[in-house]
Amino acid sequence: MRGSVPLRTVPRFPERTVPVFTIQFDLFDSATNTIFEAKTYPDFKKLLAESGCTKCPLSEGRRHIVVDRGNPGAKVLMIGEAPGENEDIQGKAFVGRAGQLMDQMMKELGIDTNRDTLIANVVKCRPPENRAPKQEEADQCMPFLKKQIALMKPSIIVLLGATAVRHLIHDKGDFSMEKEAGRFFTHPDYPNIQLMVLYHPAFILRDPRKKPVMQEHLKALKRLMDESGAAK
Ligand code: URA
Repeated sequence: MRGSVPLRTVPRFPERTVPVFTIQFDLFDSATNTIFEAKTYPDFKKLLAESGCTKCPLSEGRRHIVVDRGNPGAKVLMIGEAPGENEDIQGKAFVGRAGQLMDQMMKELGIDTNRDTLIANVVKCRPPENRAPKQEEADQCMPFLKKQIALMKPSIIVLLGATAVRHLIHDKGDFSMEKEAGRFFTHPDYPNIQLMVLYHPAFILRDPRKKPVMQEHLKALKRLMDESGAAK
């Protein structure tokens, strides 16, 4: 181990060396703690976006840490998979083709995603070639999403696609999106929050025949938003 990391001398004992990574790790941990201590959503977002996080290897290829897009004061949190190329360039979630399709479909129902929802992802950095995030990457990033939920206090969480379901609802086991999409449910890990599963809009881009089904699911979401006062 020692041979593989740079060593530095200890000032009072120049003949002794300590691995540098120990110091870097300590510094990083205190930066991470500061993020988790944020009391407001804007503070949290700024600290995370500017943190230079290196908790997982996705940091190596990213341009931006993509925290979200939309309104942290909204009552609806939509959770997708991971930033793609456009999101990585702009530093905003769901601004590529999939995001534009979702915006359009929701606009047709009177939902403005930037006003009525906050949109985030399971991981905040773009995976290479847009592959799904690995379990260990999602595990490292999940505390940030949990902190977003704690600060935002949504009354509805929409899980966009299988990756979001898999990483947020651990006891789901084997499931098929065909059966889950459009379903409302609650879960003890998310008290007082109504959960809903939707198809990921990238899936609709690949198979537009599913668009009418997704439109029906979105209508059900809009009804819930109207009934619960989550719509503006
Ligand atoms: N797909 C996602 O899951 N998230 C994004 O931000 C963009 C595309």
